[in-house]
Amino acid sequence: MKVVLLGTAAGGGFPQWNCNCGRCASCRGGAPGVVPRSQDGLAISADGSDWYLVNASPDIRAQILATDLLDPGPGPRETPIRGALLTDAELDHSLGLLMLREGAGLEVYAPVAALNALRDDFAVQQIVGRYGDWAWFAAKDGMTLGRLRVRVLAVSNKKPKYARADGGGPWVVAYRIEDPATGGVIVYAPCLATWPDGLETFVDGASYVLLDGTFFSPDEMSGSTRAGVGSTAQRAMGHVPIAGPDGSLERIRKLGAVQPGTNWAYVHLNNTNPVLDSRSPEYAEVRAVGVKLPPDGTVLEL
Ligand code: MLT
Ligand code: MN
Ligand code: ZN
Repeated sequence: MKVVLLGTAAGGGFPQWNCNCGRCASCRGGAPGVVPRSQDGLAISADGSDWYLVNASPDIRAQILATDLLDPGPGPRETPIRGALLTDAELDHSLGLLMLREGAGLEVYAPVAALNALRDDFAVQQIVGRYGDWAWFAAKDGMTLGRLRVRVLAVSNKKPKYARADGGGPWVVAYRIEDPATGGVIVYAPCLATWPDGLETFVDGASYVLLDGTFFSPDEMSGSTRAGVGSTAQRAMGHVPIAGPDGSLERIRKLGAVQPGTNWAYVHLNNTNPVLDSRSPEYAEVRAVGVKLPPDGTVLEL
């Protein structure tokens, strides 16, 4: 199986258009080791001809154009993209569906709460349905995409800010995609409110785990200096931080000793996260545990 990391930043991307924090300013200024990143998503294929997106960010058009593997053809209007799996209905993971309206339509898999939000609160289902032949499915543990096997783990009940409905989660899932022909396994979990129950088992035997790395510390957006951005939005966004005793890095450090065959990487990096600067001590701390911070466009063969 091939996996392309189309984007690796959180909502807003890096740099964020309205942000003058130190890191966004360095990135804008072309500082070495502070590379731009688009909003997170993957493309996955077992055979190199049928591709599935995992999340569809508002950057999807540029991401597809930057990825030769997703070039259209051989017919005049043929795309190798067959469908999309969504981990949730957040705008940074679903706005891209609107950008794909020129196609004939896709099959979309998502948690039921997310599908409902994409119909009742942000009417993507109705809108793209007027342009093409789209099909919407509840993401089911054990489903298959061609020869790829998909496992689904409910990871949180954090709903998007725009969603009104309260009823019934889970709102957010992680995916484990296995290629039985190669034994390759990727786990994608870009949205973790806390370290979820069952994640250790879910990643067991994975070749690669792409994990929520939104924030390094629990409070990096507060404070009114240029290091912070004077915002109290971080708590409401609810992402498990990388650092600290309850952070994900400590969990990975412990798991790493048990599962030495598994590669770990952080994605969905928020523009305030100091790991975006490869000269920072926080970057060094993450790398010292062996966790990677791969750039956009990275291709994994699993
Ligand atoms: C999140 O990851 O918490 C959301 O994408 C935040 C947002 O952009 O609303
Ligand atoms: Mn997000
Ligand atoms: Zn910024």
